[in-house]
Amino acid sequence: MDALLDEVFRWGHIEVLLTTIDPAGTPNTAPMGVDRNGIREIVLRVYRETKTFRNIALGNRWLVLTLSIDAMDYYDSLFGALSYETVPGWPIPSPVTRCRYPLFLARVMNIDDGDPSTVLAEVMDHSHLPSLRSCRQAYSRANAALVEALIYYTKVEALVGKASREVLCRLYEKLEENALLTIRLGSEQLRRAADNVINLASEQLRKAGIACRG
Ligand SMILES: Cc1cc2nc3c(=O)[nH]c(=O)nc-3n(C[C@H](O)[C@H](O)[C@H](O)COP(=O)(O)O)c2cc1C
Repeated sequence: MDALLDEVFRWGHIEVLLTTIDPAGTPNTAPMGVDRNGIREIVLRVYRETKTFRNIALGNRWLVLTLSIDAMDYYDSLFGALSYETVPGWPIPSPVTRCRYPLFLARVMNIDDGDPSTVLAEVMDHSHLPSLRSCRQAYSRANAALVEALIYYTKVEALVGKASREVLCRLYEKLEENALLTIRLGSEQLRRAADNVINLASEQLRKAGIACRG
């Protein structure tokens, strides 16, 4: 497993689909950044207002990290469109992703008082689940830009009503720049997702009385 972790973290900070469960055992998956912090130790910085943080704070210590380079997996996790399957013997389910990627089971060791809270976890096991298909993808700017647009979308969503117009409009501009790149270079599916992200963010700003142009 250590060699696989060396490979997974060879580019440094990574984004994953992070799955937690609530006290009733219902899974929740969200995009989260992860760093390696030792041979098998990882560190996440999780905002307190997320369901992910609440699940961890309520005592669920198990995490599943699902690797994916597919922007649509991140999009589906944010908009609640994932289904789940379980690796035999694992205490927590894993989302079904478009390609067959490695999954990691980790256990939370420590949560600090910050916001974001620094969450330390130990990687316990890894697996592959048979998924829809194996993928042979080239680097796609449209796909990468959609992930960037989703990051800015979640920042707008978290900060609307809290941050200044200037900050929100700067975030929105970055969202739009990335989404427009996706719309220019992406497939029909990616274009629709990028368009939806622009519309949802504009709607949130409009409801908050914020106009970013003019
Ligand atoms: C690629 C990507 C990476 C993200 N990384 C983090 C992160 O490291 N920490 C965090 O708190 N939120 C991060 N977010 C934002 C959360 O995914 C977002 O707030 C999400 O709605 C939380 O979902 P939840 O409430 O179901 O936990 C990221 C979003 C994206 C698209």
